[in-house]
Amino acid sequence: MKGIILAGGAGTRLHPITIGTSKQLLPVGDKPMIYYPLSVLMIAGIRDILIVTNPADTPRFRALLGDGSQLGLSITYAEQPSPRGIADAILIGAEHIGDGPVALILGDNIFHGTNFSATLTENARDVRGCVLFGYPVNDPRRYGVGESDANGDLVSIEEKPRHPRSNRAITGLYLYDNDVVDISKNLRPSPRGELEITDVNRVYLERGRARLVNLGRGFAWLDTGTPKSLLQAGQYVGALEERQGVRIACIEEIALRMGFIDADACHRLGSRMAASDYGSYVMAIAAELG
Ligand code: DAU
Repeated sequence: MKGIILAGGAGTRLHPITIGTSKQLLPVGDKPMIYYPLSVLMIAGIRDILIVTNPADTPRFRALLGDGSQLGLSITYAEQPSPRGIADAILIGAEHIGDGPVALILGDNIFHGTNFSATLTENARDVRGCVLFGYPVNDPRRYGVGESDANGDLVSIEEKPRHPRSNRAITGLYLYDNDVVDISKNLRPSPRGELEITDVNRVYLERGRARLVNLGRGFAWLDTGTPKSLLQAGQYVGALEERQGVRIACIEEIALRMGFIDADACHRLGSRMAASDYGSYVMAIAAELG
């Protein structure tokens, strides 16, 4: 399965912070935001990843992640000239997707919870149609909102409804079979001129091929859209990391644990950041697991 991280957009709700830099490069705790969605793809076993960015930001993402080979990944980049919608990432990434399934994740979505890795691998194994992930929120009107039946099949989906039918937000992680390319090509832009991912998901719903996996209340799906939520996400990550002494979304550790790189390579990555606590942690993990 191929992966796509959508890391464009204007980040206007974070102005002036995002005037000079990309939102998805801002820190959440002690690491750049994009490490979190990248980690999600990595723990799902996905190694061939396309990052879609604003043209001005591509060099910064390249400086951070390169071609991914240091992590045992293949990372390529594509530009989205203007924010034409989340489903636009499928069109931009059509060649990358090829004729197989794809996992699309928004570059500003942070997921954390036990067994997430198992949930992901189980659902990514044989995707027929689409798999969405729902999360209970107290203000569903800000999100895509879905409902599922007892079998986990999606029965309704709406984008930012005024009167939500459930409190189940559709998170920014989408697993699709290859039909998503054709569906996205045939999509009409919404009234606000965007190719809406909810319209893609609705086509799958109409075909009876959409599943909604509920991420329980013991799970964390964090928002980073405003200065306050960004700060809270960083505090959440920091509090857990300090308490447990382990790091969330440490991509070098995940690469090592997944067997994408060996302990020597992991140690080298840590040693390049030896002046930071993050770098020391990476080296310590390499020593522990080596
Ligand atoms: O976060 C989950 C929500 O994401 C879903 O519940 C909604 O169904 C989905 O439409 C989306 O809603 P948002 O209002 O959060 O979408 P937004 O336009 O803010 O875009 C989400 C991220 O994707 C944001 O970091 C910027 C990036 N993006 C967005 C668009 C429209 C792009 O890189 N390019 C784009 O064209």
